[in-house]
Amino acid sequence: MSDQTDHSPGSPAEFVTTSYEAHPDQVGRVLLLYSGGLDTSVMLHWIQQKYGAEVVALTVNLGQPKEDFEVVKGKAIDLGALACEVVDAREEFAAEYVLPAIKANALYGGGYPLFTALGRPLIAKLAVEYARKHGCDTIAHGCTGKGNDQVRIEATVATLAPELKVIAPVRNWQMGRQEEIEYCREHGIPVAGGTEAPPYSIDDNMWGRSSEGKSIEDLGSAPEPEVFQLVTRPEDAPDEPVEIELEFDRGRPIALDGEPMELVPLLERLTELGCRHGVGIVDHIEDRIVGLKVRDIYEVPAATIVLTAHKELEKLVCTSHQNLFKSQMDNQWSFLAYAGLWYEPLREDLDAYMDSVNAQVTGKIALKLYKGSATVIRRSSPNAVYDQELAGFSESGGLFSQQASPGFIELWSLQSRMAYRVRSR
Ligand code: ARG
Repeated sequence: MSDQTDHSPGSPAEFVTTSYEAHPDQVGRVLLLYSGGLDTSVMLHWIQQKYGAEVVALTVNLGQPKEDFEVVKGKAIDLGALACEVVDAREEFAAEYVLPAIKANALYGGGYPLFTALGRPLIAKLAVEYARKHGCDTIAHGCTGKGNDQVRIEATVATLAPELKVIAPVRNWQMGRQEEIEYCREHGIPVAGGTEAPPYSIDDNMWGRSSEGKSIEDLGSAPEPEVFQLVTRPEDAPDEPVEIELEFDRGRPIALDGEPMELVPLLERLTELGCRHGVGIVDHIEDRIVGLKVRDIYEVPAATIVLTAHKELEKLVCTSHQNLFKSQMDNQWSFLAYAGLWYEPLREDLDAYMDSVNAQVTGKIALKLYKGSATVIRRSSPNAVYDQELAGFSESGGLFSQQASPGFIELWSLQSRMAYRVRSR
């Protein structure tokens, strides 16, 4: 497109080490994953300048609270994009990514409900789709070289579209935030939110919000109150608790307080409720796939409520053997999702298992939300393996026999007793 190349900081990566990275000569039309933030705005301009390439922007709506997608689109066009596609992927995200995560009680490292990790493969899949639609040869994203998101996006693109190349300018260019702002000044790019460095790196969608970097990296300090832009801090939450009842059908949340709801509005409603009552703040030390150990502050109100309720219901309807085994499979599933291997066949195998167990996960769980906690207070299910009459829990004559207990204990403890004697000889 433009033939006057400029030599301000950063130049396209000339050396490529992988099958999917683009050499500058291969870049003619780029599909840019565009958020409207500083990095991807600089990229939109920079790619046109440095590669002489055309840019098509793609912005994906995964239910990021408070985002104005019309503004983002206008900005992309102003910066010279041929087109800016805004895709509302909220329903697909809820149905194909969040719902399987619910069925797998998905938490990485015991605390992170994977909202970003679940969003990336969908964003990358849409990038492939729109790159093909617009005849692009290359996909560009704004991830740095330190995080998990580059892994998730590039692994997905390389899996789905071996014919497409990838560039990740932020990973290669030598610009820090100040140089980026300088670049904007030089090229007349408006900088939203002023020229002050934002304190944290943020990512969010309908399943949660994360903050990383800056003062959060100081393990010796509690997070500053300004970190919390979503959830009310528990100390500021109402003194009156609220009780809610969540209904599940085969693992899927289907109603709140008796009112049937689709998944997206249901999650939005739970986000509001959780936010108000200070539910879902997680201060998390995390092992990234790329090796770094980092601290994340998560605000995950809907995920905390739904996962607490789902797990409780699942425990009620499953046998002890299923409960023990499933938590291991849940961990496997969560790790694959975290690690960016969405198209790994093992995930499909695990999903089949998750669906099989969840066929029984039907019923209602009531929770009390109060100053940061979400506590289960009532449970009911037609499939509960909790039938006092059937077991004969209170009277004799059920499946459970108290008379059999001593015989059971004799055999149950046999090997332990033998080993104890052998070792004390
Ligand atoms: N640590 C989380 C993850 O790896 C959140 C990452 C948030 N991404 C971001 N670009 N700020 O999934």
